[in-house]
Amino acid sequence: MRTSWPSSAGPTRAKTWSACLLSAEVGGERLTELEFDLFFLLLAVAGNETTRNAISHGMLGFFDHPDQWQRLLADPSLMPTTVEEVLRWASPVMHFRRTAMKDTEIRGVPIARATRS
Ligand code: HEM
Repeated sequence: MRTSWPSSAGPTRAKTWSACLLSAEVGGERLTELEFDLFFLLLAVAGNETTRNAISHGMLGFFDHPDQWQRLLADPSLMPTTVEEVLRWASPVMHFRRTAMKDTEIRGVPIARATRS
């Protein structure tokens, strides 16, 4: 169990990404323990769900379209566009809700504060 939230990065702290987050300052402010914990949760879920959905749905696509799999095996240089196509095909992030924080307009469409889409 953690007994205290670190008040300084300290000279011996390892240079891990979490240490960078803990010691980062923006406008003289650092993350609170709650903010760090919530960001860690967001990072774990965001990184896991997206890549898991993309990989499994991409594999399913190749099972259903073995000709495309053979095409990739025959020419591995297709990998960069394959990744883009799997992301398009799988749509790993299907629901992303947003809330307008103020009255605004996007491409001529008025959007009232607190509208959720
Ligand atoms: C197939 C892979 C991925 C896809 C399709 C994807 C997609 C997205 C999308 C659409 C957003 C919202 C961006 C916005 O607000 O405009 C997002 C945000 C985010 N993603 Fe990913 N992501 C992927 C992989 C990852 C991985 C591997 C990580 C971390 C290890 C990650 C961490 C995050 C975090 C932390 C945010 C929130 C950023 C913020 O609001 O400041 N994502 N991602």
